[in-house]
Amino acid sequence: MMDTRSQHAVDPHRSLHSDTGGVPGEHPGRSSNPLIKVVGLGWLEFEKPDLARAGKFLSDFGFAVTDRTPESLVLRGHWAGTPGVVVRRGPGSRFVGPVFRADARADLERLARATDTRIVPHRGGEAVQLTDPSGFPVRVVYGIPELPAVPERPPSRMNFGPDPVRANDPQRPARRPAQIERLGHVAIGTTRFGAALDWYLDNLGMIVSDFLYFDGQRERGPSMAFIRCDLGSVPSDHHTLAMALQPQTGYLHSAYQVTDLDEVAAAGEYLRERGYRHAWGIGRHVQGSQIFDYWRDPERLMFEHYTDGDVFDCSMQPGWAPMSVSGLAQWGPKATAEFTGTRDAGVVLAAIKALTDKGNEVDFAALRGMIKAMAS
Ligand SMILES: [Fe+2]
Repeated sequence: MMDTRSQHAVDPHRSLHSDTGGVPGEHPGRSSNPLIKVVGLGWLEFEKPDLARAGKFLSDFGFAVTDRTPESLVLRGHWAGTPGVVVRRGPGSRFVGPVFRADARADLERLARATDTRIVPHRGGEAVQLTDPSGFPVRVVYGIPELPAVPERPPSRMNFGPDPVRANDPQRPARRPAQIERLGHVAIGTTRFGAALDWYLDNLGMIVSDFLYFDGQRERGPSMAFIRCDLGSVPSDHHTLAMALQPQTGYLHSAYQVTDLDEVAAAGEYLRERGYRHAWGIGRHVQGSQIFDYWRDPERLMFEHYTDGDVFDCSMQPGWAPMSVSGLAQWGPKATAEFTGTRDAGVVLAAIKALTDKGNEVDFAALRGMIKAMAS
């Protein structure tokens, strides 16, 4: 007889999808011989035309400014580590690229050798600057000085079960900016999904937690991947990078961890009171299980508060599920066009351009898959 417990231990998707693991011949979701294995994100870099305005939103969203110059803003969460977000003054509002952390200087050396680049000094440490197949500049850093932890509110104590823990102690979450703990993940769309996916697995040693495919087109391979860092037996975030085949290459959102549901909800009320644009939430995701809430900054870049995300060690194999908007959450309001971006100006033009441009992976079948996913 099958041991159902051990089966459950390796299948994160039970009872949520009809299709679970991969079948032979499908993308394995990891490289057999990666160049290095990054250990996490360092920070994300953005460009903003108005640093005061960017700093105001990010402070209201829950960051603390740790360094400010006329040309840049460095923002941090409460946990010890690298800062989380760097904003440089620039002509437009855009995501520039992700910065990943290497485990050792030897990893930078190996990367530099293999990609014929140099190790350069960077923010008190060292970096190798690469470009992924989507065109994003990707920096891998080592030796960056870490910021010390800042005290934060402990998670709310909850009266669950028969033994209440809060006798004579009412629950009063403060309505103030979130206390962000740390950067969690970045999600990007790309017209060169397959090439970019393999690039991150082969060069940075990341591994796939979940694949999504266009419903009815599984034989085409995956069209979205939730990708984590391989820390061996140490569990890491279900995804540090999420990537999806889209009609245009660009930033989708980035996500920041807070301590509990009260923090997600009360911080959301704070943003709402200040007139910021809500995108989607509160709900609980399927892939990654995070309790999420999505907001737009004044230039409409999307930022997510989340709590209670899944962590997987290296033993978990990728799950496979058809892509659909309704499949993005286990509970919560229906995903809005504000979140999916389907009503954004330029989507149709981008689709036409992607079809006519050579060197990308967008074809009619892919567009059909995207439209079906958005409608289901
Ligand atoms: Fe997310």
